[in-house]
Amino acid sequence: MRIPVGVLGATGAVGQRFVQLLAGHPLFEVAELAASDRSAGRLYSEATTWRLPGGPPPEAARLLLTNCDGPFRSRLLFSGLDSSVAGEIETRLADSGHAVVSNARNHRMAADVPLLIPEINPDHLDALALQRMRTGGGYVVTNPNCSVVGLALALAPLERAFGIASVHVVTLQALSGAGYPGVASMDIADNVIPFIGGGEEEKIESEPRKILGRWNGGGFEVAAFSISASVHRVDVSDGHTMAAFVRFKRSVAPDQAMEALAGFRGEPQERRLPSAPERPIHVLPEADRPQPRLDRDRERGMAISVGRVRADGERGLKLEALVHNTVRGAAGAAILNAELLHARSLLPS
Ligand SMILES: NC(=O)c1ccc[n+]([C@@H]2O[C@H](COP(=O)([O-])OP(=O)(O)OC[C@H]3O[C@@H](n4cnc5c(N)ncnc54)[C@H](OP(=O)(O)O)[C@@H]3O)[C@@H](O)[C@H]2O)c1
Repeated sequence: MRIPVGVLGATGAVGQRFVQLLAGHPLFEVAELAASDRSAGRLYSEATTWRLPGGPPPEAARLLLTNCDGPFRSRLLFSGLDSSVAGEIETRLADSGHAVVSNARNHRMAADVPLLIPEINPDHLDALALQRMRTGGGYVVTNPNCSVVGLALALAPLERAFGIASVHVVTLQALSGAGYPGVASMDIADNVIPFIGGGEEEKIESEPRKILGRWNGGGFEVAAFSISASVHRVDVSDGHTMAAFVRFKRSVAPDQAMEALAGFRGEPQERRLPSAPERPIHVLPEADRPQPRLDRDRERGMAISVGRVRADGERGLKLEALVHNTVRGAAGAAILNAELLHARSLLPS
């Protein structure tokens, strides 16, 4: 018996990834799909303009969409809701006993909400005990901003092994990160736009510090290093690339860093969770990699790629990281979070 789950925002870019990745999932079965009043009452196949390769999975295509008012019979709800509405809807559903596993930014920095990357900070799930006292049983667990997943995964082994003093990062972010229709083709063709709205730089500068910080039993203590980010939208369909410049508390040779990155594993690998990549970080030796078109789909889009690890002055390294923004950076990340919640017996019954 698979666990029935619902997808909120099922018609959107992230919602479609949820529906795609959950088709045939060994633990979860899509039982309910929800979006706005504009879509409610229509068959998923009719209300959704499917924009991923192939059509919508048949078992989802024939479901009737509802709005997000509920009630939902699925205890586990994935949220790919637009952030203009996600905050209020997710709070209400957590208060009514659901586990809400969300992509939206609204609750990520809240004092008792885990901002989870299962390989890095599974112990942050201890915060749920506090959150559940507030809600009465349900809860919200979030995954980070799509660029942050790639950056935090690349930084975690380096922080643990060597201690980071500061990070500068320049991102080159794919079009799918803006949802559909995203940036107008006349604006992005033959162009790079050095701005992404919605507080993108602030998210990249704050979220990794919570993820790499510590749950002390009563609150989150953020990691001590600083992050400075400069973001760009580029004419790439999927896959966010990042050039990171990392200063350490001591000198670190590129070979040492590559060894730490390539050897990085966590609880999803130990538990062999269904969506876990065997190797969360693929370290690429070629001088011209990673590249979005060639490397974003490694391990079904769940592994990030790191390359060009090289010395940068005293106590510095620079590197390139790549993450599939709608898989490891969004829906795939949330599904891995839910698999960990299930493995730790934290899903409400
Ligand atoms: N795209 C990415 O790479 C990415 C990565 C990480 C996180 N995220 C985050 O994930 C969320 C979704 O992003 P997206 O790119 O998938 O956006 P999107 O394509 O615009 O989809 C938004 C979804 O929200 C629904 N919605 C809008 N207003 C609603 C309302 N009043 N009540 C209920 N549902 C409503 C839409 O339903 P209708 O079709 O009925 O309007 C649609 O299903 C955002 O919070 C975004 O920041 C996106």
